[in-house]
Amino acid sequence: LMPGKIALCQADSLEPGQMTRFEPAGMDPLLLINDGGTFRLIEDDCTHAIASLAEGRLEGQTIFCPLHGGSFDIVTGKAKSLPCKHPLRTFTVAVDDGVVYLA
Ligand code: FES
Repeated sequence: LMPGKIALCQADSLEPGQMTRFEPAGMDPLLLINDGGTFRLIEDDCTHAIASLAEGRLEGQTIFCPLHGGSFDIVTGKAKSLPCKHPLRTFTVAVDDGVVYLA
């Protein structure tokens, strides 16, 4: 275990192309994505209105919001299509001993 870091899940519990939402205590919900073997961690709430991006659709490195279809880059968090304008926050992950952590 990595002391002081928040463990999210086992690395092998998320296949490439899959994503899952986490609600760490005291934090806004996060979305962990297995991007072809690289883990990406972004905020899960769409910056346009109220929607969980975990319910959306992942296409390569773009995630589409389930509510109005706007999209974001999962690497940079930048909004890619309207009505999304404001970027998502991105977070750093660390994988240690088969466990994915919020770094
Ligand atoms: Fe996501 Fe509107 S809430 S595009």
